[in-house]
Amino acid sequence: MSGGIPDDKIQQMRDGFDIYELVSRYVQLKRSGANHVGLCPFHTEKSPSFSVNPGRQMFKCFGCGVGGDAFEFLMRIEGLSFPEAAQRIAGEMGIDIAERKLSGEEERRRQECAKLQRVNAIAAEFFHRQLLDSPGAENCRQYLNKRGYGRTSASEYQLGYAPDSWDGLTNHLRQQGVDLDEARTLGLIRSRDKGDGDYDLFRGRLIFPIHDLSGQIVAFGGRILGEGQPKYINSPESPIYHKGQMLFGLYGARQAIRQAAEVILVEGYFDQLALARAGVENAVATCGTALTAEHAQLIMRYAKRALLLFDNDKAGRSATFKSMDLLLPTGIEASVIELEPGDDPDSFLQKRGKEAFAEKRQAARPVVELFMQDQLATASIGASGVSRAAQQVLEKLVLLPNPLELDLSLKELARRTEIEVDLLREQLEQIRRGQQERSARLKRTSGLPAAPSTESAPVSVPPPESVPAWQKPPVASKLSPADATLLKMMVFQAEVRQQVATQGVEAFFFDPLSCRLAEELVTRLQDVAVGQELTRLQQTPEFIERLPPLLANNPEEFAGMGQKMLESRRQKTADMRRRQEMKIHS
Ligand code: UTP
Ligand code: MN
Repeated sequence: MSGGIPDDKIQQMRDGFDIYELVSRYVQLKRSGANHVGLCPFHTEKSPSFSVNPGRQMFKCFGCGVGGDAFEFLMRIEGLSFPEAAQRIAGEMGIDIAERKLSGEEERRRQECAKLQRVNAIAAEFFHRQLLDSPGAENCRQYLNKRGYGRTSASEYQLGYAPDSWDGLTNHLRQQGVDLDEARTLGLIRSRDKGDGDYDLFRGRLIFPIHDLSGQIVAFGGRILGEGQPKYINSPESPIYHKGQMLFGLYGARQAIRQAAEVILVEGYFDQLALARAGVENAVATCGTALTAEHAQLIMRYAKRALLLFDNDKAGRSATFKSMDLLLPTGIEASVIELEPGDDPDSFLQKRGKEAFAEKRQAARPVVELFMQDQLATASIGASGVSRAAQQVLEKLVLLPNPLELDLSLKELARRTEIEVDLLREQLEQIRRGQQERSARLKRTSGLPAAPSTESAPVSVPPPESVPAWQKPPVASKLSPADATLLKMMVFQAEVRQQVATQGVEAFFFDPLSCRLAEELVTRLQDVAVGQELTRLQQTPEFIERLPPLLANNPEEFAGMGQKMLESRRQKTADMRRRQEMKIHS
């Protein structure tokens, strides 16, 4: 079994699914002997080193080294977990794969989400039809026209219009037999304070649908036509919408982002659309919030680099540097595209066009460099002001993953402050040591890397004296390296976790301590969304504290190793159990 899917079903899919046909949906392939070759979709290249072998049902890129079967291809290109990829292939082949049985609670939640998505789909369709056909939407169509959107682009992006009435959507949903409680949960309609009935949230607004990673509409943004306040109204949080985890446009942009290993982060819905329309397909926008740590984790799944493209004003700067603090510790390289003050990507493209934008993009500067410039420009005059600014900058430089960039930045800082570069280096080392000590302390207590900034992560660890020795949790350092690795894989790979869950932890772990940890991981991560595992675990620092350090929190690191690792661990564990049996009986 793998992810609760019977082995024979997996084999049946592996044998029967045409990998050539699958790959050619994404890549233009040309025949070359027994293989078909094309440009690798997983890295940027000019001459084809990507090859598909239909006989062996495998793909391989000789440029970047990735390869595997149809499942692997789908997982990579669509950012899916193994069960999700298997589900899709099974769906296409008409194979019924019995999923791991969901608990009653999980099943109830899944059904609720499906219902909510259906209501959003009905609402989106209503808004869209209004925009295309309703006489009342004339002003909205004109507004869109003024901004360069005709009927075709309105359809392409499923834009809509919420009629300027109190109950246009409410009535439509009622007519469609929708359970209005669900619409209330989504925030689409609200009960009136006085009297009976409900009223619509979006009235007289242009509507942007917001999709999740499976393409379902989970929320809407609504812009007022012309001037007025509030400019945008957004769907509230709901069981299917958590704005801190959602990036507008990611569903359509994810392949371009993966291919370029680069994402452009913008602030506005219109900015994201304007870039996509200009052929810059790897842009996403936050949904009316600042970037969160969860966004950073999500981005990490797709990109190595982030280009920050926020307003060139005080608020935009502050947002840029806050994003920097979240992105740098993940190892994502962050740079800044600077437009003229007063411009956003949408207005810039309208005025200056694609080529001018390409130049700005080319001229993007490392965010740390900008931070340096900003700190020094605002530092108060005199030695203490400058040294304080230098210290601030060093605390960011220490996060730079690239030693060359670090070196250049240090020299730049020396030049600008007139502080000796050796002195800066020494100071940097001191900061690094301080952070390492903090990190080691935290690792001992939480299993996680220390927070990059000067504030340390809020970890609630009881003082050692308060816990009797026999109650002390297992210490991660006692785990064998193999157990530690498998436990880490269980955190970051849903399919590994599920497989361990289905077959029982004792099949993979011999050590009772590891068994307990694995068991607990399964329980704690039972219903977690893919990519949210760390976030979930961070909610229980006392548990993280007992796990092996999750420092290497890059899921890609283990990609494709899952099955092999599980198989070898299963055999080893079985061996050890046999040996133990023999000892007992001899
Ligand atoms: P902006 O005010 O920069 O608007 O807000 P915009 O995206 O450039 O829109 P246009 O071009 O004037 O039409 C940036 C983003 O901040 C969120 C929205 O997501 C918006 O796209 N926002 C803004 C809100 O959520 N509420 C608001 O009232 C304003
Ligand atoms: Mn704008």
